[in-house]
This record gives sequence, structure tokens and C-alpha cells, in this order.
Amino acid sequence: MNYNKKSIEDIDVSGKRVLCRCDFNVPTKDGKITSDKRIVAAMPTIEYLVNHGAKVILCSHMGKPKGEWKSELSLKVVAQRISELLGKEVIMAADVAGEDAQAKAAALKDGDVMLLENTRFEKGETKNDAELSKKFASLADIFVNDAFGTAHRAHSSTAGVADYLPAVSGYLVQKEVSIMGKALADPERPFVAILGGAKVSDKLNVINNLLEKVDTLIIGGGMAYTFLAAKGYSVGTSLLDNEKIDYCKEMMAKAQQRGTQLLLPIDTVVAPAFPSPIDAPIEVETVSADAIPADKMGLDIGEKTRELFADAVKNAKTVVWNGPMGVFENPVLAKGTIAVAQALADSSAVTIVGGGDSAAACEQLGFADQITHISTGGGASLEFLEGLELPGIACLQDK
Ligand code: 3PG
Repeated sequence: MNYNKKSIEDIDVSGKRVLCRCDFNVPTKDGKITSDKRIVAAMPTIEYLVNHGAKVILCSHMGKPKGEWKSELSLKVVAQRISELLGKEVIMAADVAGEDAQAKAAALKDGDVMLLENTRFEKGETKNDAELSKKFASLADIFVNDAFGTAHRAHSSTAGVADYLPAVSGYLVQKEVSIMGKALADPERPFVAILGGAKVSDKLNVINNLLEKVDTLIIGGGMAYTFLAAKGYSVGTSLLDNEKIDYCKEMMAKAQQRGTQLLLPIDTVVAPAFPSPIDAPIEVETVSADAIPADKMGLDIGEKTRELFADAVKNAKTVVWNGPMGVFENPVLAKGTIAVAQALADSSAVTIVGGGDSAAACEQLGFADQITHISTGGGASLEFLEGLELPGIACLQDK
């Protein structure tokens, strides 16, 4: 895929209506935003557009309202936050691309900013419906995609609209693509990737693709137990993707053929059951990875594994990490994930954390400032690591 796309700097935005797709899918609790990271990440593009006299029409989805109007998923709360960050009013449309949005967009003056309602309130959005794409396009003269987190979705507001307007990237998309693209295409070596998370089946193609690129692939988290089972170890009651055991064997053989180092846990923290609630106090013990008792469940990597993984990171020049090493929501089972976050924070390598849980872990632990790049994309960063074409980027004009 060609990532060399035109950006907002390659097009004259002054006096133009610019529809800018952002990923404002931020977590909220009791009507309040609990992390504004994605909004903050979109600000450089918004500020550039305002400062260059564009009439800015922002849009995003939030949650999965499935074409229904759900007031708890209204973007009003986002408009308020952008307005605070920008220091100016953000005009809120009462609909997505209907009469109110059309009227407000038509009345914008240079440098004004408005926000459409949640794009997924429209049934056609996730179907990439051409009529809805045309409606979005009718609001503006130019389309800017700055929603990296949604770039893996071929929806009306992320890709379809680009059929009807000149389409370029914003700064966030540019930054994500250049940092992760370089790491995959031309990494400084040694290149180490660390994968965790619950299921092997979620990361099949990521494992396969990364094995062709990295010098060392480290597997931890729930998915490691299927690899341990593939080595012939008994894994007790740990999470096991039975149908993927052969796949893990194939991947181990592939690593061996290519001379890629594949590191798996050598010890594991076990308990009689998964904690419930997830952060409940829990009694644990550490056992060797080849001696997990039949009635015990592996829930985090053990101390020796933490050292093994940290050592591999120490010598690396590029490190990509996606997925926690254990049930990090529980303080007793967070040590493996903390150790990996700490190893990345201590490293002088280019360190890249794929979004979702590992990004949240870095932020909660206070390591975010010491990581080169924390992606705003969860699914999008995974698909990027898989080497897949992202529709929200493919639809933009080439340089
Ligand atoms: C995300 O949170 O990963 C993006 O906003 C995409 O959301 P989605 O998985 O609902 O498409």
C-alpha cells in the first residue's frame, strides 16, 4: 500500500469548507469524557485549518449506536471539550448531515468550527452508503481524514465521501502512518515485536506478518498458552484456542526456518480461577511454563519471563508492542504488563505502542511520555501491523 499521501499542507484550504473526519470515539462515564487523548491528538489539524482560514466541519462516530439516535452517544460533550482546547466556540449541529447541518455549514465564516452529530446515528454510515457519502460531500469542498483509529473502516464518513471530494490526510494520520510505516518497512535493527492479549485468533495475521519483519517476536498474555500447548505443555485451565494449536506450530516452524527468535513465557503466574470482579484480591503462585497444574489458570507472565522479555528489549533499536501480558486490570496480575511498559520506557529504541489495552496501560502507569509513539488506533493499528490496506488511507490522494 502507498502511504505517501497528500496532506492538508498540499492543498489550499483558505476560505474552503473542509469536512474533517476525526476519531472522537472517546470513553465517557456519567456523561463526562474520561480520556480526551484522541481529541487532543486531533488538535494540530484542527488548529492548522482554523489558522489557515478554513470553514471547519468536524465529524466522528462514538460507540456503536447502529443507526439509532442515542442521546448518551451525542457528540455535544466532544464539542465542549474541543471548544475548551481551541479557546473558541464550536458550533454543534443538531443532526448528522441533515437540514440543520447543511444550514450551519452554509453559514460558516472563515476560521469557524462546527461539529456534526455522531455519524453512526445514520444507518448508512457503516454500510458505506453512497447516498450518505454524497450528503457528507455536499457539506464541503475538501475532505480531510485525520481519524487514524477508524482508518480500518470503509464507512461513508471515513472512505466513501472521498469518492466525491478531493481527499487528503491530517497531521495525526500522517504521523501514525509515517512512524509505524517506517518501523515496518525500514526498521532500525534489532527489531523486536511484543504481542499479548487474550486470543491467538485475534492476531493470526499480525503474528504471520511480523515474523517476516522482526528479529525477535515475543508472545505473552492469554495467547501465549496456545503456543505453550503447541509445544506439548499442559496449560491447566488457562485460556486455550484449541483450533489454533496447529497454527502456532506452523508459526514456530516458520520462525525457526527464518532464523527469527520467538520468545515465549518460561514461567507464569497462576491462580485457581479468573478474578471476579476483575480487580478482586487474588492468591497467586508462580510456576514454570511447562509445569502448570491441571487445576490452575495462567493469568500473567512470571518474574523470569519479565526479565527475559526486558533483556530482549534492552538490545533493540525498534520495539513494537501490542497487547497486555496478563490481566493488568488486577494489581496482582499487572506485573508482567508493567514490566514490559517499564522496559519500553527505559529503552533508547524507537518504541511504538499499538492502541487499546497496552496504550491504556502505558498511560495509567505514567510511562506515556517515555514512549516514542502511542497509537490512537486499536483495531486500526493491528490491521496496520498485519500489513492490510486501510480504506481510510487508501482513499486519499497520492502525493
Ligand atoms: C476504535 O475505538 O478503535 C475506533 O474508534 C474504531 O471504533 P469501532 O471499532 O467501533 O469501529
